[in-house]
Amino acid sequence: MTRPTAITIDLDHLRHNFQLAQMLHGGQLLAVIKANAYGHKAVPCARALSKLADGFAVATLEEALQLRRAAIRLPIVLLEGLFEAAELPEAIAYELTPVFHTAQQLEWLAQDPKASFETLWIKVDTGMHRLGFSPQEIPGLAEHLYRQMGIRRLTLMTHFAHADGQQPQALDQPMQHLQQVLQRLRTLPELQIKTSLCNSGAILGYPAVRGDWGRPGLMLYGVDPAAPAVAARQPLKPVMTLTSRITAINQVPPGASVGYGALFTATRPTRAGIIPCGYADGYPRSARQGTPVLVGDVRVPLIGRVSMDMLSVDLSDYPQLGLGSPVELWGSRLPVAEVAQNAQTIAYELLCHLQRATVHYRDAQDSTSTLE
Ligand SMILES: Cc1ncc(COP(=O)(O)O)c(C=O)c1O
Repeated sequence: MTRPTAITIDLDHLRHNFQLAQMLHGGQLLAVIKANAYGHKAVPCARALSKLADGFAVATLEEALQLRRAAIRLPIVLLEGLFEAAELPEAIAYELTPVFHTAQQLEWLAQDPKASFETLWIKVDTGMHRLGFSPQEIPGLAEHLYRQMGIRRLTLMTHFAHADGQQPQALDQPMQHLQQVLQRLRTLPELQIKTSLCNSGAILGYPAVRGDWGRPGLMLYGVDPAAPAVAARQPLKPVMTLTSRITAINQVPPGASVGYGALFTATRPTRAGIIPCGYADGYPRSARQGTPVLVGDVRVPLIGRVSMDMLSVDLSDYPQLGLGSPVELWGSRLPVAEVAQNAQTIAYELLCHLQRATVHYRDAQDSTSTLE
């Protein structure tokens, strides 16, 4: 028997979630597929969305080139911009759209006589204090770009610090600053301005805030960034399901322990089920004891420390479960956000770390896509 741990990616669910984002946001949408589409693999996800999305967003040039090599022709925005001047000619040759967030990057652009972009994407820092120009800098910068470089189309992009969409009042000040900036830019007669403001949290939780280009990431994969703290705000469908099987059973007498460091000690005769999935697969080592694991149709508790390739669950109360029983570690019936909470992290991290397991694609629109 081959190792039974595998991921199923439901591309129909990906499309469903995208359409939901489109309905909620309106305008145009970039599907955020950085970090290998949050662990779901960028190329199959981009292909699945290629008839729906208006473009894609990735973090780096390498990620964008992978998509171009796979014949993805839609616009691709580089959210982290260019890391060195040498990336500029490639970005232009492959028709990519870097986001400019430092004066140095704009200098690289000014110094390259062949470099031009139909629309320049500029990042505005509205409070994250990570990347971008402050709202106060934007009018002067825009005027410089307009007069010195002949720029006539700007897209102002921001990423809110309160990105899970749960604190609408925290957006009052950033939105006020943005409105003031937009007001001032109206004095430049031929300048066309667009905005890109909303990630998943803003799309789901800040309906009063909208821009021209939405940038949903997590919600496309079927997860609300505020989960599990709040009940699902929209009918998102989980895209990734991580499954395995029980491959060994251990009878553990009272007083004996399970796994590294004797973290779990049996207080009763315990039937421990062993699942071949561990932190090398991306299952978090920090998952606390009691983290739910779905075996058959029953939620059973994780026991002991998650090891590199295995973890253990307590099957004592369920004699019907045993060798070969199917396991869901997270996905369609066990929300990844719940597992993340038990591991003191967020669903984003768990999804992005899933890189090793065999991947199966479910896609009603394409009978050829099965296994990678
Ligand atoms: C600049 C930017 N926009 C959009 C997104 C997508 O965010 P989310 O996955 O919360 O929708 C991210 C993700 O980190 C981002 O960095």
